[in-house]
Amino acid sequence: MRVVYLILASAAVCLSQQFESENLAPFVPSPQIVVDKMLEAAQVKPGETVYDLGSGDGRIVITAAQKYKAKSVGIEISDALCKSTQKKVSAMGLDSQVRILHASALKVDLSPADVVTIYLLTASNERLRPNLEKYLKASARVVSLNFRIQGWKEARVEKIVADRQTHMIYVYEMSTVKH
Ligand SMILES: C[S@@+](CC[C@H](N)C(=O)[O-])C[C@H]1O[C@@H](n2cnc3c(N)ncnc32)[C@H](O)[C@@H]1O
Repeated sequence: MRVVYLILASAAVCLSQQFESENLAPFVPSPQIVVDKMLEAAQVKPGETVYDLGSGDGRIVITAAQKYKAKSVGIEISDALCKSTQKKVSAMGLDSQVRILHASALKVDLSPADVVTIYLLTASNERLRPNLEKYLKASARVVSLNFRIQGWKEARVEKIVADRQTHMIYVYEMSTVKH
């Protein structure tokens, strides 16, 4: 019994260490007017699929579903944030449109995405870039808040002030990034 407990405990430690090394950024929510601007800049159309990599409290995926009639998928490494966001999504009656997955953004298949949003860090974008290039279709757009994706050329850059802070929105079109 003691051996089983030790095996389980060390497996849990390994799992949490693995997630820790995959932590791409702390939870800092985007102001709502910035969320609106990001989705507008991405030109999200009804029925398209929006992935938010590091979905935090779900504000991007919820806005994409409510305002743009998109399907959306939030990928979030924090179990607590996943649970609280899932509760909110269900309470809002958005279960058929919004999925919250407890996973690392570094490990998910992004091929269904029409739009990917990220609010991470430059070094994190660098870690994500190979998967974005591997999975995303030519028509997909990537919108990164405040941090460029190095080596990619922006299709558009927008600036917005929220809470007296200037935010930069970098929009990339996969057709020009990799084709
Ligand atoms: C700066 S917050 C952005 C939250 C939300 N996207 C927004 O704009 O309001 C970054 C989020 O990424 C999550 N995160 C960090 N590393 C991650 C990873 N490898 N996979 C999925 N989520 C991750 C954090 O827990 C946090 O919620």
